Amino acid sequence: MTPFGLLVLLVLCSSILVAHGGEAEAGSYMVIATNSMKPKASCSGHKVAPSNVPSPNSTWAPLHNLYGPCSPALSAKTTTGNSSAEVASMADMLDADQRRADYIQRRLTGATDGKQPMAMDHQDTQWLQSGQFATKGGVGGVRHLTRLSTTATTDAAPDGTSAVTQTVIIDSGSDVTWVQCNPCPLPLCHLQRDPLFDPASSTTYAAVPCNSAACAQLGPYRRGCSANAQCQFGINYSDGSTATGTYSFDDLTLGPYDVIRGFRFGCAHADRGSAFDYEVAGTLALGGGSQSLVQQTATRYGRVFSYCLPPTASSLGFLTLGVPPGRAPLIPSFVSTPLLSSSLAPTFYRVLLRAIIVAGRPLAVPPTVFSASSVIDSSTIISRLPPTAYQALRAAFRSAMTMYRPAPPVSILDTCYDFTGVRSITLPSIALVFDGGATVNLDVAGILLGSCLAFAPTASDRMPGFIGNVQQKTLEVVYDIPGKAMRFRSAAC
Ligand SMILES: *[C@@H]1O[C@H](CO)[C@@H](O)[C@H](O)[C@H]1NC(C)=O
Ligand SMILES: *[C@@H]1O[C@H](CO)[C@@H](O)[C@H](O)[C@H]1NC(C)=O
Ligand SMILES: *[C@@H]1O[C@H](CO)[C@@H](O)[C@H](O)[C@H]1NC(C)=O
Repeated sequence: MTPFGLLVLLVLCSSILVAHGGEAEAGSYMVIATNSMKPKASCSGHKVAPSNVPSPNSTWAPLHNLYGPCSPALSAKTTTGNSSAEVASMADMLDADQRRADYIQRRLTGATDGKQPMAMDHQDTQWLQSGQFATKGGVGGVRHLTRLSTTATTDAAPDGTSAVTQTVIIDSGSDVTWVQCNPCPLPLCHLQRDPLFDPASSTTYAAVPCNSAACAQLGPYRRGCSANAQCQFGINYSDGSTATGTYSFDDLTLGPYDVIRGFRFGCAHADRGSAFDYEVAGTLALGGGSQSLVQQTATRYGRVFSYCLPPTASSLGFLTLGVPPGRAPLIPSFVSTPLLSSSLAPTFYRVLLRAIIVAGRPLAVPPTVFSASSVIDSSTIISRLPPTAYQALRAAFRSAMTMYRPAPPVSILDTCYDFTGVRSITLPSIALVFDGGATVNLDVAGILLGSCLAFAPTASDRMPGFIGNVQQKTLEVVYDIPGKAMRFRSAAC
């Protein structure tokens, strides 16, 4: 059993907020009813259905939290009702989120002591936001999952193949996609719900040869050759977890039109660490590195993808690759800001935050406070701001929340409340203003994590910041790499 069970309460708060967000949004303040602080038992599906128009150059898949009624991989977990345990669990998640943030900052500032880059601590960091919990294993936090398929032979399909569906975590902060492959013995590997992918039963599978361009392209994730000259990959996560195995080719099925021939991914035969204490098959990597799905499908999808992270565990979001045919009418509802990349750490996507508006008033801080860029990805939970901006945000938020009882800090979150007995919460609106003037009003689900303000300071105003996935909830976030633009659309899921 792990400490993650506790998030439930907090999550519930968050769920409630989400559920009522639409009705209450009115200018400077948002009112959230708290009378339904219980997890929903069933999946309410998509609030807004993504376009279903078939297209050879775009595809989409539903996204859901790891634990919860929308998860195809796991049954809904129930809350323990033990609020001290939930706070402890949330603190653990936040500590892990901080390790991830520290690690990304070291990568971006080159402070890695000459060591090879490691992939993110994504496994450990995303538990928080979902509405459901695990009695063991974790809260389905911000783990947003989708499914992918690799091809294996069966007698059923006319061409002799059919896809084996695998449920994976999406991560726009890492580069190498991997799934567990047979043989994957416990305890070197972890249990998964989907059948283990078996390379031996796939007619389209091949190991990447050691002396190939595909193997060389693994770069820092290359881990030598096996005895039979197969290219080996290895990913070290920042908590010490690792995934290792054979770098491989197989056909990846993403939708009816979307078979990616010869997709390169890691066939993991060992993935060790406490981070893997849950039952997904692996990770779908959407980072900026040349190994990622986004880069491998450049010809077909044009290196454009988007996602919408659902507000609660009982609703669905989506992941889109390419530009959907129905996109044009929606374009006016997007705001856009330049998307920055870093040659030092090409994995990460960054944007420039320019101002923050709380309850309709811009924070009174000099614009120079926002000179460092912010990393944006699907997996970092909490937004990190320059300390000067964070202090101003916290002061403005607290002054709008004086009617609520303060509660002790939880890990890195120092502005928490005790909402016990409160029937509805009035929250100040928060908008993030990005370079070029793109103004993004956060959803009511994007302000609190549990009962704490979901922002934290970085160590100094010059350090890279983060736009966390709490803040991204319900937004469609478009990564347009060739257009060097990041776009946001409100109320997309
Ligand atoms: C609640 O959780 C705390 C911390 O994990 C534990 O010490 C305590 O025994 C639990 N209480 C109940 C009633 O389960
Ligand atoms: C990654 O982990 C492996 C196995 O523990 C270790 O041999 C290797 O040195 C690590 N690499 C880095 C860059 O830390
Ligand atoms: C659509 O995808 C195909 C490959 O599947 C590619 O050849 C073609 O150039 C793409 N079209 C556009 C407009 O991107």
